[in-house]
Amino acid sequence: MIANTKTAAIRVGITGVGSCVPDEIVTNDDIAERAQTSDEWIVERTGIRQRHVAGPGVAASDLASPAAERALARAGITSADVDLVLVATITPDMPFPATASVVAERLGAGQVAAYDLQAGCTGFVYALTQAYATIVAGLARRVLVVGVDLLTKYLNWEDRGTCILFGDGAGAAVVEEVSDGGFLSFELGNDGSHVEDLYVPAGGTRQPATAGSVAALDHTMRMNGRQVFKFATRVMVISAQRVLASAGFEPADIDLYVPHQANKRIIDHAVRELGIPEEKVVVNVDRFGNTSAASIPICLDEMLRDGTVAPGARVLMTGVGTGITWGSALIEWPTDGNNGGSV
Ligand code: UT7
Repeated sequence: MIANTKTAAIRVGITGVGSCVPDEIVTNDDIAERAQTSDEWIVERTGIRQRHVAGPGVAASDLASPAAERALARAGITSADVDLVLVATITPDMPFPATASVVAERLGAGQVAAYDLQAGCTGFVYALTQAYATIVAGLARRVLVVGVDLLTKYLNWEDRGTCILFGDGAGAAVVEEVSDGGFLSFELGNDGSHVEDLYVPAGGTRQPATAGSVAALDHTMRMNGRQVFKFATRVMVISAQRVLASAGFEPADIDLYVPHQANKRIIDHAVRELGIPEEKVVVNVDRFGNTSAASIPICLDEMLRDGTVAPGARVLMTGVGTGITWGSALIEWPTDGNNGGSV
């Protein structure tokens, strides 16, 4: 899917962003012995130094709800002003109902529409696209988009190929009509031939939970790291180039590049290929690890709070994740809302 927004009747953008991560920090040294790895190896191959990890009993909605509340406050609205709660996650509170239903109730949003969207680490970009289309079609005035994942709940802490990479977190954005700027173009894709390169075998309808599936650790993540790395490096660049071309821009026209925070080496490769200068690239994977659907909105929240992004800035976001899915959204930051520092 690819489209620019040139012919749309209204401009739609992000007017508030918020995030929430668990307090507990787990460093590389904390996991090194059990996973037979080292801080040095992890930093060199991934750029990750630490990650935030949710404790027992903490679920997706527990991080999603505070992130959403902050986004609403920064947009200067309340949950009563929202028509749709859209939660991008592959780590819901439970198989059903949707985590969005739990979040809507926690926020006191009333009987608004609410559903989850599953697109792995690309989930936030997919959800922004859905929110945009829903508003332009006149089905909603304001959509609350949340990206939340607690992938540490699916880790085998003895599998050094996966446990070093992931952290937990949530990020949220209010999407609505804006008076200037807004989304310029979107590009989404998927290649289902890579399903088993990054997946959790059991717990779904293919292999429901049994004592055997638990004993075999089939409820933990399996990943072909090398394969995902190769695919991700290629597709991050292609997606970014497509979304820019669709809006009539070159990489040099971008003020800020917000790539999915999977691995610093993947980001470095994309930046080199695209020719985007390092000072325009947002990186926080060293502090959060890969927070999946939360990674891009956590970056946006940090950028707004420290003043990195200002009205008029052209921001390119690109995600890639299990599926394998990928997606990019290009936005010109609007002047409306976005009360960055004071909430
Ligand atoms: O949103 C997408 C989510 N997924 C990803 O982003 C994953 C993308 N892939 C990666 O980030 C990388 O593939 C990893 C960080 C997972 C692995 O790095 P790599 O450079 O691709 O390592 P490799 O799998 O090619 O393994 C190279 C060597 C192997 O040893 P031998 O066979 O050469 O002796 C591994 O056993 O490194 C070994 N190795 C490790 N050693 C210490 C693999 N993981 C570790 C580790 N610590 N954590």
